[in-house]
Amino acid sequence: MATTLFNASCSFPSIKVIDCKSYVGLRSNANQVRVASLPFATSQRRSLVVRASNGHAKKLGRSDAECEADVAAGNVPEAPPVPPKPAAPAGTPVIQPLNLNRRPRRNRASPTVRAAFQETDISPANFVYPLFIHEGEEDTPIGAMPGCYRLGWRHGLLQEVAKARAVGVNSIVLFPKVPEALKNPTGDEAYNDNGLVPRTIRLLKDKYPDLIIYTDVALDPYSSDGHDGIVREDGVIMNDETVHQLCKQAVSQARAGADVVSPSDMMDGRVGAIRAALDAEGFQNVSIMSYTAKYASSFYGPFREALDSNPRFGDKKTYQMNPANYREALIEAREDEAEGADILLVKPGLPYLDIIRLLRDKSPLPIAAYQVSGEYSMIKAGGVLKMIDEEKVMMESLMCLRRAGADIILTYFALQAATYLCNQKR
Ligand code: PBG
Repeated sequence: MATTLFNASCSFPSIKVIDCKSYVGLRSNANQVRVASLPFATSQRRSLVVRASNGHAKKLGRSDAECEADVAAGNVPEAPPVPPKPAAPAGTPVIQPLNLNRRPRRNRASPTVRAAFQETDISPANFVYPLFIHEGEEDTPIGAMPGCYRLGWRHGLLQEVAKARAVGVNSIVLFPKVPEALKNPTGDEAYNDNGLVPRTIRLLKDKYPDLIIYTDVALDPYSSDGHDGIVREDGVIMNDETVHQLCKQAVSQARAGADVVSPSDMMDGRVGAIRAALDAEGFQNVSIMSYTAKYASSFYGPFREALDSNPRFGDKKTYQMNPANYREALIEAREDEAEGADILLVKPGLPYLDIIRLLRDKSPLPIAAYQVSGEYSMIKAGGVLKMIDEEKVMMESLMCLRRAGADIILTYFALQAATYLCNQKR
């Protein structure tokens, strides 16, 4: 493990191990040692280190043979004495050392040793940055998510994307705040080719063609009922009819240039239907990241405030999963795999590490974790109240998601965490 090292476009020396043929160099140090950075075909593989020309060849007067002869004759040169044992505080009990074969602390004894044996690493390349957009010109702060804004799609959004790219985050996911007047019970604005999301995708792709754009596929921001699907008179969320709408939504997003469409609605059969709909329209290369195990969680509260997308009645328990369930995640994962999902997502993140690990162990597909709004806001609030160290808790929570098995992490901390990684001294 632990081959994922840092590879961001920031001013920080990096080492990358893709396979044994590639080598990415270190910046020059005081002795001007440089390491070349070109991939070589196996037949051409050779040492890439170019030696410094100064330093090591100095003459001090005596030959190696003379030095060796001195030592052989018993004239051993002096070295500093063995250092004394550091003193323990007065009162420390004097005891016989425990007779232990294994002392795991040996492998944690210094920063160098710890770095050598670190099993998991994290880089800005692992982050997907969720961004809220709206029709306005201004960026409006989101009360329940300190540091997050509803970004103006034409201005604030582009600036935020530029900042993220500067620290190596080149993947985003878009969440629109849709004007109330455009919402209806069947969420038809979701597949308006000139709606906020498709328009924004076109603008972003025009400015940043290599940006990877994920989109959310679900009706809730467009539904006057605030549900992810069409609501029948008796309150039932209609599955197959909703899937029909989702297919149109996904195709509209793909047409605008989305790279990865991400159904977060939890309707049955939507991955297969969306795959077929995309393929029928010629979007064979558009990926599907399925919200495979999305739980009916109270951690989504701040997000729903951000988009004003709270369900107008009831809850989402007939389609999102019961937080008490573990095995059920496997049923969802099997279906999504069979239906052609490219990435499986678990949501929320930190409270559901066991589910991330389950899918990591049971599926060969890449795994995504969504560190949701409530997780983000709790860390922010704890930081503001000085109850925790926000930055350290942020980095630890992200590392834990990686350790549990997430390849990518959707996180509102993407910019902040990537900036931290770029500034970190190694
Ligand atoms: C909507 C959707 C939700 C989130 C992502 N997509 C909210 C919900 O299901 O109610 C939540 C994200 C977050 O809380 O950060 N389909």
